Amino acid sequence: MEKTLSIVKPDGVKKGVIGEVIKRYESAGLKIVALKMLWMSKEEAKGFYIVHKDKPFYDSLTDFMSEGPIVVMVVEGEDAINKVREIMGATNPREAAPGTIRADFATDIERNTVHGSDSPQSAEFEIKYFFSELEIMKG
Ligand code: CMP
Repeated sequence: MEKTLSIVKPDGVKKGVIGEVIKRYESAGLKIVALKMLWMSKEEAKGFYIVHKDKPFYDSLTDFMSEGPIVVMVVEGEDAINKVREIMGATNPREAAPGTIRADFATDIERNTVHGSDSPQSAEFEIKYFFSELEIMKG
């Protein structure tokens, strides 16, 4: 069993697709084992996306991620990291396969509705960024 972190980003919350995102994960056999809504400060968004600190889009991305509430969740299942990434679709919605979350709801490469960890290492960092051990359901 593998765990990954997924986020419904501020654009996704505004569009009212929190339930739709969760439904797509659950329909694929994945389990939500932790969930909460929060509003990140700019500093918190910068910390979360620290791996992108040298990218040209870092400032704009962290402005966007702190512009409104988000829903963060831990998703568990066999091959959960890859499964969530498949359900989300490509980062750029114009390249996302039909029927994926980003193809259906994203505005552009930045306002792309959802986030999912891209490796076991990033999943570990990202889950710990938002959740304590006690907040993650076991069994
Ligand atoms: P995410 O999967 O959360 O990982 C990093 C985020 O940076 C990505 O989704 C997009 O929201 C954003 N991003 C990635 N590439 C670009 C880009 N070229 N221009 C603007 N934003 C980007």
